[in-house]
Amino acid sequence: MGDVSVNLRDISYTINIDSNNLDNAGQLLRQLNYQGKILVVSDENVGKLYGERIISLLKSAGLMPELFLVQPGEETKSLTVAEKIFAKAITMGLDRKSPIIALGGGVVGDLTGFIAATYLRGVPFIQIPTSLLAQVDSSVGGKVAVNHALGKNLIGAFYQPKAVLIDTNTLSTLPERELYTGLAEVIKYGLIADSDFFKYLKHNSEAILNRDSSALKHIIKRSCEIKAEVVEKDEKELSLRVILNFGHTIAHAIEANTGYKQYNHGEAVAIGMHGAALISNLLGLCSNELVEEVRSIISRYRLPLKAKNCTVDDIINLLLRDKKVVGGKVHWVLLNDIGKVVVRNDVSEDIIKKALVEIII
Ligand code: NAD
Ligand code: GLY
Repeated sequence: MGDVSVNLRDISYTINIDSNNLDNAGQLLRQLNYQGKILVVSDENVGKLYGERIISLLKSAGLMPELFLVQPGEETKSLTVAEKIFAKAITMGLDRKSPIIALGGGVVGDLTGFIAATYLRGVPFIQIPTSLLAQVDSSVGGKVAVNHALGKNLIGAFYQPKAVLIDTNTLSTLPERELYTGLAEVIKYGLIADSDFFKYLKHNSEAILNRDSSALKHIIKRSCEIKAEVVEKDEKELSLRVILNFGHTIAHAIEANTGYKQYNHGEAVAIGMHGAALISNLLGLCSNELVEEVRSIISRYRLPLKAKNCTVDDIINLLLRDKKVVGGKVHWVLLNDIGKVVVRNDVSEDIIKKALVEIII
């Protein structure tokens, strides 16, 4: 299907997207000149489905891989689990040239990337994302992290992978809810950067929800292109990259307020995008029609518009503790139009409350 380049000087890399692409894993590792021991980290769900296949492909390519499985779920993105993987890497005798592969969704990707960034002060990292969310977002751009009891993604680094290998066929086994979750981030790209892509999403929902292979390849490629373009301009989120957090400010607060159990990331982002559209409208930045467009695409892709079991006061408190709060001010990513964002740090508590009342049941 083709490649997307992430051009970051001496740490540039390629995102390779195709169906049946897992079969190219051995070849990719050889092309990158890796040999000897390799650690493949996956979770029990994905490992059961694709682990043995990857291991035997890597062995056929003359490499010496071992598979380490973690429990599926957000709780796995922890220092406790990281400690176990460090122990595995040490006992395997991995050295600075030994790559570590993440085979799985965003949890496995973020956790494994954190290991790769810190083990021996950094070893080569390869992403083989298997959830839609990981294929369109978390495997690209180098944000790696584990959670702390006091907050999500608080311990991490910017650490770019050496390559991203996307096999769109892996999406055939993805649970339906996880497909919708990934689609929230796909919708985000249309809203923040590309009105034509937004139109494509609007008019091709049936094919996408039915997991039509070419539709999925298209949305994955376009999402990766948009993310790559932003990351190339602002790798460390000093300015522009903040636009990728559209919908995420409220989403993080909702996830925290519901103990990371009720909503997965994409669902919380969908509610957050609704909230951000409402704030944009309340500030006079965008029309009522645009808010309707946002609501309609979120619903079309079976995602929630409103959050249950949260309170406006809790969410307000949590918003002020978000790590993206710079100098005590929340940097709100808002919409002028589809594909046109504006970042504002002067949104009053009153406006935020008005929007929250609309999105909290
Ligand atoms: P996840 O990794 O928990 O995967 C979701 C579920 O799908 C899991 O149960 C997993 O086992 C299963 N799964 C994955 N691929 C599968 C497949 N092909 N077939 C069957 N089952 C499969 O969740 P996620 O939504 O992929 O990622 C969420 C995480 O990503 C969060 O921790 C979030 O903070 C992080 N994230 C990171 C970034 C970043 O830039 N680093 C961006 C967005 C989200
Ligand atoms: N998911 C937001 C980012 O990668 O910056």
